[in-house]
Amino acid sequence: MGERTLAIVKPGCLAEDHAGEVIQAYEAAGLRLAAARVERISAERAGELYAEHVQKPFFGELVEYMTSNPVLVIALEGEDAIAAVRAVNGATDPAEAEPGTLRYRLGDSVRRNAVHGSATAEDARRELALFFPELARG
Ligand code: RTP
Ligand code: MG
Repeated sequence: MGERTLAIVKPGCLAEDHAGEVIQAYEAAGLRLAAARVERISAERAGELYAEHVQKPFFGELVEYMTSNPVLVIALEGEDAIAAVRAVNGATDPAEAEPGTLRYRLGDSVRRNAVHGSATAEDARRELALFFPELARG
């Protein structure tokens, strides 16, 4: 099974009907869906997801955006899944992302940057526990 990680299709990307393209890119990278769900996340949950950024100047706008419309939360598994998702996603700022990455193709701005991916093994465990507790235990 390899490793598990959490990805999120952010509100703008889901609303623009690009969820299929995102899933296709992860599958093409050798990853498999373990779970997926569309939901409108609460401000509390968004704050937990991005807890490491609570002191940053962009935190308020980040939470506001992530709660503005439904998202697609996805648990992915495969070899080196955490790094693989980050590589497919591309750089945080779409203007700096490599061509072919999801943020290059689908991102509008640093805030509206299409997708989220857990950054570390510890983040992946914590984030999976927030959205798919049944997988975080396994
Ligand atoms: P993510 O957590 O969403 O996968 O993104 P990331 O690791 O590439 O970037 P991170 O530093 O964790 O930032 C989380 C999200 O905050 C927004 N952001 N805005 N300067 C800014 O205005 C700024 N910097 C970051 C982005 O939407 C980023 O995805
Ligand atoms: Mg991050």
